[in-house]
Order: sequence, then C-alpha cells, then structure tokens
Amino acid sequence: MKNTNKIFFSEKYQRLLKELVFLERDRIFCRHDLEHFLSVARISYILTLEAELDISKDLIYTTALLHDIGRVSEYKTGREHDQASSDLAKDFLEDSDFDEDQRDMILGAIRSHRQDKGEDDFSAIFYKADKLSRPCLVCPAQQKCNWPKKKMNLEISY
Ligand SMILES: [Fe+2]
Ligand SMILES: [Fe+2]
Repeated sequence: MKNTNKIFFSEKYQRLLKELVFLERDRIFCRHDLEHFLSVARISYILTLEAELDISKDLIYTTALLHDIGRVSEYKTGREHDQASSDLAKDFLEDSDFDEDQRDMILGAIRSHRQDKGEDDFSAIFYKADKLSRPCLVCPAQQKCNWPKKKMNLEISY
C-alpha cells in the first residue's frame, strides 16, 4: 500500500481533503470524505476478488482516494469533478511507482466513475463500488435524494 499511503499523507492531499470536508459541512446528501473513499476501496477490492481480477490493492485504494478529490473544484468553479479529479490524480501519480498501464487504469476509472458502461473491467467494477458504498437504507435524506429508487441500496449487500 506504498502509493496509497504516500498520496494520503502528502501535504497536498491532506489540504484538499480538509477543504472538501469543509465545503460539504452542511451537505445533507452523501458526503465525499475518507469514510466514502475507504468504503469504495473496500467494495472495489471485494468485487475484483469475486470477479477473479488480479488488480493490486494499492492501485484500487489509490483510485478510491483520488476519484472525488476534484469535487473541491466542482464546488468552487462548476467544473465536473470526474475531469478535475483525473487532472489532480495525474499529478499525484507522478510521485508514484505505478507504471504507464496502471496509471491509465486508475485515470480511466476516475474519468468514468459516473457512467455505467455495463462492462466487466476495473472501471465498471469501480463504478459499481462507488454506488454500492452508499447506505441509502439508513439515509435521513432519502426522500430528497435524486437517485432513482431502484438504484438505491435499500438492503445490505456489501
Ligand atoms: Fe464522484
Ligand atoms: Fe464517489
């Protein structure tokens, strides 16, 4: 988990995470905090094991830590956070020892984490894990949420 921890403890990541938590302090819907990132990472990891895909835990957790970090830009400028997160991730990955293919895999999953492509690769798994991470069944804002009811996690599955 070398890259995951290097990114997490970097000064830049800590600053962005703190800012994101502050910007979402009054948000009634799902927040994008460390708890969310770790839930997405853990569910993604379970799904890759179930699908018998050989993807390193370090790559999965790195993707999860970075996928929503661009929300800081989205709240401040309106720029879509999948794109903003991907740009930030590119910089963070400069300091990692992931190879070119692994970086493409991480950036691809970040860029497409809001679209269900119905495929069976890491991006598709990551999309699913992001959605599955939300405990709609106990959410106090469920009535106001714009997720279609059939997409909500109303039972425990992961
Ligand atoms: Fe997102
Ligand atoms: Fe997310």
